[in-house]
Amino acid sequence: MIIAIDGPAGTGKSTVAKMIAVRLDFTYLDTGAMYRAVTYRALETGTRLDDAEALTRLAQSEPISFAPGGTVLISGEDVTAQIRTPEVDANVSTVSAVPGVRQALTEQQRAFAASNDVVMEGRDIGTVVFPHAEVKVFLTASAEERAARRASQNAQRGSGSTDPAVILEQIQERDRIDSTRATAPLKAADDATVVDTTSLSIDQVVDAIASLASERGARDPQKA
Ligand code: DC
Repeated sequence: MIIAIDGPAGTGKSTVAKMIAVRLDFTYLDTGAMYRAVTYRALETGTRLDDAEALTRLAQSEPISFAPGGTVLISGEDVTAQIRTPEVDANVSTVSAVPGVRQALTEQQRAFAASNDVVMEGRDIGTVVFPHAEVKVFLTASAEERAARRASQNAQRGSGSTDPAVILEQIQERDRIDSTRATAPLKAADDATVVDTTSLSIDQVVDAIASLASERGARDPQKA
């Protein structure tokens, strides 16, 4: 079974997707981390971000993998910390707008799900990567709430701005690029369940998604 969780930054996608994966014993996959890993590598190697062919070659030739505990690797190198810097934040939307990069990462995402039950989070999972996913959820929240959540995440991590007004601007710019790009823009699939998380607790969102999954046949130990 595939559970697709899409939505803009700061809607709680990662937290919720990880909790669903633990609860239902599914494999969790963070596709944003893959776009971030390619962006990090491009910046590190001095690849021009307006060179779509070079970015595509990079995405095709440097496979991404995940190790337990949330470790993200590109060509076997652990880049878990490096993909969360303000530089990567500022450039990932540009890299992820390149069709060849999307194609290369979409193929890897489909391969991950070939033999596993997965919870996959991203922007285009329910629309492009798995249009036939059994469960599709699109999370939203007000921009102010998303900025506040990201500010407290940054404070915990000790990286990036902790000023909600600065973050609000960054998030809105990233959403604008992600939603208006020609290839696989951020949008809810027609058959996705849209959940506004602005005033919901994490547990309420997790429960809502787990119920959708059990309606589609997943075994939920908390309901057994
Ligand atoms: O979820 P995140 O903030 O880590 O995602 C980083 C960027 O990657 C986001 O701005 C858009 C891009 N992305 C994408 O284009 N498609 C996905 N499936 C996941 C992320």
